[in-house]
Amino acid sequence: MLRRHFIKNTALTMAGMMALTKQLRAAGDGLTDYLSNLSHLSLDERIRSETLWRAVGRHFNPADDFINLEYGYFSPSTLQTLDHELADARMVNARASHYFRREMYGDVERVRAELADMAGVLADEVCLTRNTTESMNIVINGLDTAPGDEIIYGDQDYGSMIQVLRMKSARYGVTLKRVKIPLHPASDDEIVNVYEEAITPRTRLLHMTHMYNYSGQVIPVRKICDMGHRHGIESVVDAAHTFAHINYTIPELNCDYFAASLHKWLCAPVGLGILYVKAEKIPDVWPLFGDVSTDRDDIRKLEHMGTRPVHQVLALSEAIRFYRILGGELREGRLRYLSRRWMDQVRGRERVVVNTPADPARHGALGNVGIKGVDSRDLASFFLDRHHILTVEKSIKTLFTGVRVTPGIPTPSAHADRFVEAIDDALLHFD
Ligand SMILES: Cc1ncc(COP(=O)(O)O)c(C=O)c1O
Repeated sequence: MLRRHFIKNTALTMAGMMALTKQLRAAGDGLTDYLSNLSHLSLDERIRSETLWRAVGRHFNPADDFINLEYGYFSPSTLQTLDHELADARMVNARASHYFRREMYGDVERVRAELADMAGVLADEVCLTRNTTESMNIVINGLDTAPGDEIIYGDQDYGSMIQVLRMKSARYGVTLKRVKIPLHPASDDEIVNVYEEAITPRTRLLHMTHMYNYSGQVIPVRKICDMGHRHGIESVVDAAHTFAHINYTIPELNCDYFAASLHKWLCAPVGLGILYVKAEKIPDVWPLFGDVSTDRDDIRKLEHMGTRPVHQVLALSEAIRFYRILGGELREGRLRYLSRRWMDQVRGRERVVVNTPADPARHGALGNVGIKGVDSRDLASFFLDRHHILTVEKSIKTLFTGVRVTPGIPTPSAHADRFVEAIDDALLHFD
């Protein structure tokens, strides 16, 4: 009797799920059809087509009481991904431990393979974490070091990573060497040289951030990793802001360890990250959450976090599907187009200081701007209070003061233009 009830419930849940999935897929497929009708347009024309991006924007549901130019924190999911997440949560809730004990493994492995495929690496090199912070902690805490070993890191690296580096230093006697990265470099070599000049025979690891979260600057990680390898030194890349934003696959960076948040530019549910460890390096990384029973060369040993909200992992599949509909090249092109649209208009205006490199190859969607003589906290408040535009103050005392401005996939170019008007108004207001 109980069993019959169970089977009936299960069948209903599964049938309902399949119907919903079909409906959701149809919604996403509308965009695929739409894009195929635009195949006669060049990449540049598609990047600039507001009709296309309005169609893309309809897959999101942004609040209408402010303009969001703070997609740098995280990118909301599409409505389909959100619906999947909710449907998956319902399914897991209905199937309860039957799901966790008997069904989850295969689903997680399928999603791992999809993510690995998108990233251009092996599924067995990919660990599903909660965010970049967790992924970077696994690597930095998990590598054996001897007292006096050195880790070189950049002066614009992310605060949480500097915390874990300092903890590693306090706990294991590692020496930290902070290098100053030029904000407006004339060439890639200028940055590579800064890292190279800091190397000594004790250097154990090069720590770098692919795109800085304050200035939006992209650094030449491939060249730094190649240089490090020539010296026999490993590298870890914090790619929180470039994965699914700048169009590359992980092997193109030639790094040993790579971390990113999937809730940023992939528009995946909040609370998902990726950690990549090059296959031959996996045995040398200790898990953050103790695990000595999984094989040392199995990346899954690094994923031993206990019961987790697996519905998010399941919905990642839909976020990847949406990513593929637009493709990395178009997304990167559009995001850079949006930031250049406002930056190019204000760069050179008197008192306006753009703290992001002018070279388009050295930035993406993130930009940072300040006004001479104006406290950037007041500037961010002005944009929100007077113009209903959300930005965030991001200043580094020793380098620059400014607000970070980050359009996202749902942003129409009119919002970039509205921001230019807001800057002009600020120039008058703070005269
Ligand atoms: C460069 C960089 N690294 C790491 C992180 C941390 O990301 P998360 O909070 O998703 O772990 C951020 C967050 O914005 C970031 O900008």
